Amino acid sequence: MKVPFLDLGRLHRPIRSELDAAYHRVMDSGWFIIGPELEAFESEFAHYSEVKHCVGVGNGLEALHLLLLAYGIGPGDEVLVPSNTFIATWLAVSQCGASPVAVEPDVRTHNMDPARLEQAITSRTKAIMPVHLYGQPADMDAINRVAAKHGLVVIEDAAQAQGARFQGRRAGSLGHAAATSFYPGKNLGALGDGGAVLTNDDAVADKVRRLRNYGSRVKYHHELAGANSRLDEMQAAFLRVKLKVLDDWNARRQQVAQKYLAGLAGCAVQLPFVPEGMDPVWHLFVVRCTERSRLQAHLTEHQIGTVIHYPIPPHRQSSYSGFASHHLPLADQLAAEVLSLPMAPDLSNAEVGAVVDAVRQWSC
Ligand SMILES: Cc1ncc(COP(=O)(O)O)c(C=O)c1O
Repeated sequence: MKVPFLDLGRLHRPIRSELDAAYHRVMDSGWFIIGPELEAFESEFAHYSEVKHCVGVGNGLEALHLLLLAYGIGPGDEVLVPSNTFIATWLAVSQCGASPVAVEPDVRTHNMDPARLEQAITSRTKAIMPVHLYGQPADMDAINRVAAKHGLVVIEDAAQAQGARFQGRRAGSLGHAAATSFYPGKNLGALGDGGAVLTNDDAVADKVRRLRNYGSRVKYHHELAGANSRLDEMQAAFLRVKLKVLDDWNARRQQVAQKYLAGLAGCAVQLPFVPEGMDPVWHLFVVRCTERSRLQAHLTEHQIGTVIHYPIPPHRQSSYSGFASHHLPLADQLAAEVLSLPMAPDLSNAEVGAVVDAVRQWSC
C-alpha cells in the first residue's frame, strides 16, 4: 500500500468548502492586509494558546526574529539555542547581530537538555530559545529555573507544537514569549507562509505589532525601523477554519502515534520517548536507527514516504562555517540516525498498519 509522508491536498478535502468560503469572504471584502480576519484570528489563537496576546506575522522565522528585537537583543549578545533544530532558530539570532550558542539535547527526548544550560551561560547571554521539537514540549520548568537564576529571557520556539501541553499548560504560554509558524505542513498550517508571536507581556506585544508593520502604529508615522512582516487576511481567514479542527486533528495524530508505539515495540528502531507530564502533538513521529539509509530504502521500496528532520545540523551548514569546529556530537549523532515516519491526521488505520508491517519486516 502506498503511504504518502504528507498529502496536504487530501488533508484539506473534508474542510474544503469552509476554506472556499473563507477565500470568498476575503475576496468579497476587498481588504487584504491587517483587517478583521487577522484581528479575529489573533484573538481566537491567543485564547486557544492561553495567553493574552497573539500578533500575526509573515512566518515563523520572522516571529522569532521580531521577538528578539523586541527584547533588545543585538550585536554582542548571546542566545542559547538547541544544537539539533531547524536552522530558523539559529538564523533568527544571527539576523539580530547576536550569536547563537548551541546546547546539546537530551537524546531520549531530542529537546534541549536543561542540565547543559549553565555551562553555556556567559556574561553576554541574554536569552534561551528552547524548541518544542517534533511537537513535544521541552522541559520548561527546568529551563525557566535556570533562566530566572541568571536573569535571562525565555523565548519558546513553538513552531512544531501548536496545541501541545506541558504539565497541563499550553506550549506557547510557558516562557516570557513564544514564536510559532503556520508553514503549510505544521499542525496548524496556513495555505502559504505565516507565523505569530504569543505573549502575556503588553509591552512586548505592542513592540512586535509595530515592528511587523514598518515600525508604525499610525499610518506613515514610523517610530521604529521595523519590517514588513504581516500575516495577511487570506491566511488569517484560512487559519480560523483550521483552528476549529486543530484539537480533533491533534487527537488523531495521538492515535496514530499510539499505534506506531504499540506496533513497533521491541523492534530494532528507537522509538520516541514521552516523559511524565508531557502532552505532545506529534508534529512528527521520529524513530532512530543506526542503519537509517537501509531502513529508508526498504520503506521507499514499499512505497512508504519518509523524511529526515534534519539531515545536517546548523553547525555543519555552510552558512555557519565558523561553527564547523564546534564539538556537538549529539547533534551529529541524531542527524545521522533520525527518520520521520508518515504522520498526519488523515492517515487511515490501514495506512498506519502498512507502515508498522514494513518497519517490522525490516527490523523485528
Ligand atoms: C522549529 C522551527 N522553528 C522555526 C521555523 C520557521 O518557520 P517558518 O518556516 O514559518 O519561517 C520552523 C519551520 O519551518 C521550525 O520547524
